[in-house]
Amino acid sequence: MPLNLAVLISGSGSNLQCIIDRVASGALHADIRLVVSNRPEAFGLERARKAGIPTVVLPHGNYLDREDFDRALIAAIRDHGADAVAMAGFMRMVTPMFLQTFPGRVLNIHPALLPSFPGTHGQRDAAEYGVRIAGCSVHFVDEGMDSGPIIIQAAVPAFPTDNGETLGARILTMEHRIYPQALQWLSEGRLSAQGRKVFVAPAARSKAFIGEPGEYMVFPPLEEGF
Ligand code: GRF
Repeated sequence: MPLNLAVLISGSGSNLQCIIDRVASGALHADIRLVVSNRPEAFGLERARKAGIPTVVLPHGNYLDREDFDRALIAAIRDHGADAVAMAGFMRMVTPMFLQTFPGRVLNIHPALLPSFPGTHGQRDAAEYGVRIAGCSVHFVDEGMDSGPIIIQAAVPAFPTDNGETLGARILTMEHRIYPQALQWLSEGRLSAQGRKVFVAPAARSKAFIGEPGEYMVFPPLEEGF
């Protein structure tokens, strides 16, 4: 059974594109039932249309409050038969009501090594701070800002000459690797959380890792196809 997935976006949708591409390659067993944007001008909507994926636009200004918006969001997701949610550059917090509707099935990608640099400008904040190792995190979404249990992280070097844009571009290449991998683990039912700790169960059939654990800076290691 593929993962019946809703992808939530607000902008360019390059993470959406990598999810689309991994589904097409057969590595990610998901059916992207719909793409939702809170911004009508989001380029990601074009990417969805090109891939033949239904789109829904919910301009957040049209709703009274977060709960009102989330009710519409839940209805759209359910109407399209999705029961798992990937937030991919979706610049909104969701309510507890939303999370209770899809328990343990809402993921987010953040362009920093959490818990450092949560919030809207993770890449810029890390560059300005002068870190030497930056990266990205896929995590379960909870009520807080980028605070849910971490599933997978990837690290990239950061240079004193970096700014948010140059560092952000380097981080983005790894976002595109780790997000589909985390979604595939969710699809296979291999993720479980105990408090803040996330466990990835071994694959049913043995899968080759890309490189040896410890040889590179993605952990848990990526499996073949990602
Ligand atoms: C990514 O850096 C993501 O981590 C952050 O917003 C950016 C979205 O990029 N939350 P895209 O829309 O997927 O290209």
